[in-house]
Amino acid sequence: MVACVFVMTGTLAQGVYTLHSPNGSLTLQFLLDGSGAPHYSLSYKNKPVLQKSSMGFQLAEGDLTSDFVVLGTDTASANEHWQPVWGEVKEIRNQYRQLTVHLKKPGTPDRLMDINFRLFNDGLGFRYGFPLQQGLQYFIVTDERTQFVLTGNHKAFWIPGDYDTNEYAYSTTNISAVDGKAIADSNPEIAVRVVKDPSSVATPLMMKTADGLYINIHEASLINYPAMQLHVDKGSFILTSSLVPDPVGNKAYLRTPFSTPWRTVLVSDKATDILSSKTILNLNEPSQIKDVSWIKPYKMIGVWWEMHINKSTWDYAGTQAMGRVEDYAKVNPTGKHGATTSNTKRYIDFAAKNGIDAVLVEGWNVGWEDWFGKWKEDVFDFLTPYPDYDVQELHRYAASKGVKIVMHHETSGSVTNYERYMDKAYDFMNANGYESVKTGYVGRIIPRGEFHDGQWMINHFNRVAEKTAAHHITVDMHESVRPTGMYRTYPNWLACEAARGNEFNAWSKGNPPEHETILPFTRLMGGPMDYTPGIFQIKLDIYGKKDNAVHTTLAKQLALYVVMFSPLQMAADLPENYEIHLDAFQFIRDVALDWDDSKVLEAEPGDYVTIARKAKGTDKWFLGAITDENKHTSSVPLSFLTAGQKYLMTVYRDGDGAHWDTNPMAYKIEKFWVDAKTVLKLNLAEGGGCAISMEPATTERLKGINKYK
Ligand code: NOJ
Ligand code: CA
Repeated sequence: MVACVFVMTGTLAQGVYTLHSPNGSLTLQFLLDGSGAPHYSLSYKNKPVLQKSSMGFQLAEGDLTSDFVVLGTDTASANEHWQPVWGEVKEIRNQYRQLTVHLKKPGTPDRLMDINFRLFNDGLGFRYGFPLQQGLQYFIVTDERTQFVLTGNHKAFWIPGDYDTNEYAYSTTNISAVDGKAIADSNPEIAVRVVKDPSSVATPLMMKTADGLYINIHEASLINYPAMQLHVDKGSFILTSSLVPDPVGNKAYLRTPFSTPWRTVLVSDKATDILSSKTILNLNEPSQIKDVSWIKPYKMIGVWWEMHINKSTWDYAGTQAMGRVEDYAKVNPTGKHGATTSNTKRYIDFAAKNGIDAVLVEGWNVGWEDWFGKWKEDVFDFLTPYPDYDVQELHRYAASKGVKIVMHHETSGSVTNYERYMDKAYDFMNANGYESVKTGYVGRIIPRGEFHDGQWMINHFNRVAEKTAAHHITVDMHESVRPTGMYRTYPNWLACEAARGNEFNAWSKGNPPEHETILPFTRLMGGPMDYTPGIFQIKLDIYGKKDNAVHTTLAKQLALYVVMFSPLQMAADLPENYEIHLDAFQFIRDVALDWDDSKVLEAEPGDYVTIARKAKGTDKWFLGAITDENKHTSSVPLSFLTAGQKYLMTVYRDGDGAHWDTNPMAYKIEKFWVDAKTVLKLNLAEGGGCAISMEPATTERLKGINKYK
């Protein structure tokens, strides 16, 4: 399993430790070089993936990158199964081989550091450990020095290494062409942009090599540590960990014993394997929540899009427009308060009639006249409704219709203030029938100087997950750090936005048609996204927003419910837009949120993704296929269906002549019967998609329905 070969390098005898993945496709090597500096390398099917890459830290009190000796090693392995509370599959296999190297840097006192490698069949995880030790009790990390030495100038799908936001469209360039500053400067609609190092990128970073290897670098189980970004050395193609700092530039304040998050490197010659990998989840700690019976996936509509398209406002006076800080004070002439009791009832009625579990209400509470951009600390108390929003009456009304109301806590970046009110706010939710909260962190973090992705905020996000769990509340975080699989540990943490959501189409140049074909390979690697799909009124000029539009077809909006896994899905458009397309809305009603199985049928980052999923506890399948700005045709065998069983298939496809820009709303709904021998022919329009439901059906039910050909 682990082989150690001793070779002479310079004057020091050094061991090369080799670890193979369970199926032998990945090989990891670890060694100390002649100066006692730890290094690792990784290969896949005998091809190098990462060349000899150095490891270690810069601490405030000194350097931890060299002069080490190996004290000893441990090995371990696992091959077990576990069941997530909710997820893409019913059961997850956790199979790996592990090597832990115990290192010592001799001195007065000695410094101890462990490196723990876990090799799975589809990737590597490794983390550093600082055992309890004399002389290193409290310490400050000023830099982590983990390298990922690439073998060439790979094609990369990247966003800037911004300390405060992930809300960029992806750039696709060779790694040598990364320029995060230029991208940040061309995105004025992102409220807060802090790109200190133009040569840095965020993770998850997706790459493809010239000879067809797919490599994804991210991290798992981000606890009490800042998010990792990657500095790109454009000449040598070396990526180096770059941690998000605190206001004075330090990265992490730690105590021994401590383990860092896992650094993850997923590798395959098939793009589909990257999307089906469970390695990041496997590297997270099991659920901390014992009784999970109250955790429920759900669908919501919301008093939401109407504010983003300026039809109404969050604030009571109706004077604050959605948009850039510069636009903030502009009076919106058509604006009126959205979160009124009567308007909320309209949404509740729609939800009750159309099989939607819940209604999100934003702008219900006092404070929106003063939110971001004003550096105000005590903006919201999360308790006081506007006078035209009747909490008790709406609780009663929603309950009478079997609908839940989703709480909204926009912190406006004032996190000290949120921490101050959190307990009261969750008690208020418990008392008034709210089971779920959407939080938000728009603007600079207050206290001033902290960043969204620094250690201080990571601890806050994790504390919110823990505290909401204690109150039996599920949570959806917007403008949080991007996920790292922590939803395994806190399964009440249903989703995050933490990327450029559909909302950008409402008030910026928007998301290019390829955006949703890249997100699964990047942002979604760490966990579900509240992308807020389901916009049916694609062109927004009808609201007076002549420059704004969603950059997909309507059918693609439907397909996103399958492609972008989330146990929390929003039907983001207005009820009145759904009322005129109830035939298409049927797919949103029907589509499941929790799955027994998922099959990534075809995928190429930036081009197309097709996924089929089997709804939890049923034999119903849903399929979503999306493409970028190009048409996409393919043949997809339905061999995953139960052999011998006939299924009623409903296809929601791009209509003839559909096109994301010139004819986005043309869609066609067709019914056929299919079985496991059927080969589906997908024909997606430019920027298009296809959504399909398949349910087992009797011959009786299939009368008059044609066989799919
Ligand atoms: C940004 C969030 O992504 C969006 O969903 C929300 O409506 C606004 N902030 C206001 O909180
Ligand atoms: Ca493309």
